[in-house]
Amino acid sequence: MKNISIIAAIADNYAIGKNNDLLWRLPNDMKRFKELTQGHTIVMGRRTFESLPKGALPNRKNVVMTSMPEAIGTNAFVCTSWEEMTDLTEKDPDVYIIGGASVYEDALSIASRMYLTWVHADFDADVYFPQIDFSQWEEVSRKDFPADEKHPYSYTFVDYIRKNNE
Ligand SMILES: NC(=O)c1ccc[n+]([C@@H]2O[C@H](COP(=O)([O-])OP(=O)(O)OC[C@H]3O[C@@H](n4cnc5c(N)ncnc54)[C@H](OP(=O)(O)O)[C@@H]3O)[C@@H](O)[C@H]2O)c1
Repeated sequence: MKNISIIAAIADNYAIGKNNDLLWRLPNDMKRFKELTQGHTIVMGRRTFESLPKGALPNRKNVVMTSMPEAIGTNAFVCTSWEEMTDLTEKDPDVYIIGGASVYEDALSIASRMYLTWVHADFDADVYFPQIDFSQWEEVSRKDFPADEKHPYSYTFVDYIRKNNE
């Protein structure tokens, strides 16, 4: 069965982005993102795709959700609905939903795993992660990291699996 995972970095106040960019640069979080997603399929909204500085992320099947498929170049697959996304990724064993907010909102009901990085600060933002019903999720791993010279904020990697996920 296919594993659909949400991967996101979320501030304490649920902020995730502003001006179509991230709110922080946390090298360890980027490293974890790369390690988890490399070799797999990543699914994102059109705005997140446009925010990637070098376009499609290498060594991954990039899938972009949009109502305007003609606006996306040839380096990414395009889906205009979740049904299309499901068809396109049917044979992919691991699919990572990488944002942004509207895509996360829909994915919360279909994902079986979440890999979240909680960034311990509040941010002024224009995009927020949707509220999470934690009664649906079991925490399976947690690792805290202090702020340091490369990481201006302390942060925590927390992995969750959906409860009663058979
Ligand atoms: N902190 C994090 O982990 C994280 C992760 C990802 C992104 N971000 C940040 O989040 C922000 C971008 O997120 P966003 O919420 O503004 O935009 P987004 O979710 O990346 O993109 C929204 C667009 O995706 C398309 N879309 C969404 N659902 C669809 C569906 N069911 N069917 C067809 N198309 C669909 C639509 O594109 P069309 O308008 O083309 O139809 C919609 O306008 C940026 O600031 C980015 O840096 C943060």
